[in-house]
Amino acid sequence: MTTAGILDLAALGEDFVNDPYPVYAALRETGPVHRVRVPEGHEAWLVVGYEAARAALADPRLAKSWDRAAPTLSVVRPAAGPNMLNSDPPDHGRLRKLVVREFTPRRVEALAPRVEELTGTLLDAMLARPDGRADLVEALSFPLSMAVICELLGVPELDRVAFRTWTTDVFSHPDPSARRKASQEMGAYLARLLDDKRRAPGDDLMSALVRTSDDDGDRLSPEELVGTAWLLLVAGHETTANLISNGVLALLTHPAQLADLRADMTLLDAAVEEMLRYDGPVEAATYRFTTEPVDIGGTVIPGGGELVLVVVADADRDPARFADPGRFDIRRPERGHIAFGHGIHYCLGAPLVRLEARIAVRALLDRCPGLALDTDPAAVTWRAGMLVHGPRRLPVRWV
Ligand code: HEM
Repeated sequence: MTTAGILDLAALGEDFVNDPYPVYAALRETGPVHRVRVPEGHEAWLVVGYEAARAALADPRLAKSWDRAAPTLSVVRPAAGPNMLNSDPPDHGRLRKLVVREFTPRRVEALAPRVEELTGTLLDAMLARPDGRADLVEALSFPLSMAVICELLGVPELDRVAFRTWTTDVFSHPDPSARRKASQEMGAYLARLLDDKRRAPGDDLMSALVRTSDDDGDRLSPEELVGTAWLLLVAGHETTANLISNGVLALLTHPAQLADLRADMTLLDAAVEEMLRYDGPVEAATYRFTTEPVDIGGTVIPGGGELVLVVVADADRDPARFADPGRFDIRRPERGHIAFGHGIHYCLGAPLVRLEARIAVRALLDRCPGLALDTDPAAVTWRAGMLVHGPRRLPVRWV
């Protein structure tokens, strides 16, 4: 539905929430840039298509700092403290460097045995169900990704229930003030937790971030520590959970691909990459704001803090880059999906995600030889919001 050249995505209702791909594809056919009203109610410039999306993600004229947003924008600013994803150079480089020092490949690899153990415990509980049925979102995807990110950061087990509610609300609550409240509560909790880590450090990432400093003695301020912990939790939880759910759904709805993977587990790494491309958990990248007019494919987006949404989910389904892009193919030769973004904000958690998804999918297939979808695929309903894409529930059964 278009009014004065603005496509109202909210008017597309549940169809758009459940399957946004055809809408983006139809837009892409007519060009890379579109003026839309997003389901949250505000207007934005949508960038679709692989080349345009990749270029936009790396364009320094599209800033991440909320200070660059036009004052007239009717968007609720999240209550997160300063962190790398809401900063631009030079702050971005400084904040990212201090985290990279501690979020090392060694720290990620050291988590592997714990990820395996946590996956095993969750699958034990799932398989003990007498009816042989479960909702995979509740049984595996969410609890696993939450436990892993909390263990990495050092969030005590007792507090994880509250975290699940906060992170879900931050992304998907329909009411902007509820999103902001969840954001604030999580920030206040993290500030207290960081104080505890300062007094009694552990060997977790949060304790490491509290004490880290670079060669010049630069360190994260208390506000930056809260902002960074907030970012890692929010960025790392829903995304990974939805990757597992979307990926398993893709396998279960493509039985020949599933059989191929079961027969040859060396295909697992490629299968995870195809899950990220075919139905990755990030639909649109986080908000960007124009610092000057930006010409994308002949459309000029004005400067002055206009809101730009780059649809990575569409980029990864662009036939100009991926042959027959709507086909789920774990042997696909093309590389280069942008499910983890592109440019200076490229996902810091990518190695952890890959590790976790591989362990979860392998264990699930090993332990459930007869795993099948326990519903009509068309009946699966999806979470609201354009940032993350994932099912609310994923009913499965096994023999
Ligand atoms: C399947 C899971 C994940 C996907 C698909 C994903 C995707 C992304 C994307 C697309 C961006 C760029 C956003 C933008 O440019 O607007 C990003 C940034 C980021 N991600 Fe992830 N992410 C995932 C999991 C994680 C995890 C587990 C962590 C941490 C433990 C994490 C930490 C980050 C951080 C810190 C940034 C900001 C980097 C920067 O601004 O320099 N992500 N992620």
